[in-house]
Amino acid sequence: MSSVEHPIGLTSAQIDHLQQQAIAVAHHAYAPYSNFRVGAAVLLTDGTIVTGCNVENASYRLTTCAEQTAIAAAVALRGPGIRIRAIAVANLNATASQPCGACRQTIHEFSSPDTIVFYPAERGARAEATMAQLLPAAFLL
Ligand code: THU
Repeated sequence: MSSVEHPIGLTSAQIDHLQQQAIAVAHHAYAPYSNFRVGAAVLLTDGTIVTGCNVENASYRLTTCAEQTAIAAAVALRGPGIRIRAIAVANLNATASQPCGACRQTIHEFSSPDTIVFYPAERGARAEATMAQLLPAAFLL
């Protein structure tokens, strides 16, 4: 198992583990309408990993994405002070997929500019981007 250091101080083994957690929880997705099963694993700055999957609804716009579900679970578990170090997103459709715009804003709420997002790229590869790259002009209050 490799232990190469990532720029944000995660080893490749830690990143692989986060991605495996995202894949595992994607099997719990409730996605009867799209059949696009997504999982997200959030690594908090305290080291906790919290997972979530997409939960669809017959009233389509009420669907919650995997990233949103994971972040809501993390807040429920650890409280409003959570901060996200990294998040891995996976789907069971072998499809390249970046977090949607709404999820970027949701992740941003608990992130710093160097929070890193891992997501599926073409041909099973893993892509990554910082929140500063994914949402450079986030809405703020
Ligand atoms: N979905 C996610 O869970 N996360 C994303 O970043 C993109 C989309 C879900 C929502 C919906 O249940 C299905 O994927 C198809 O859009």
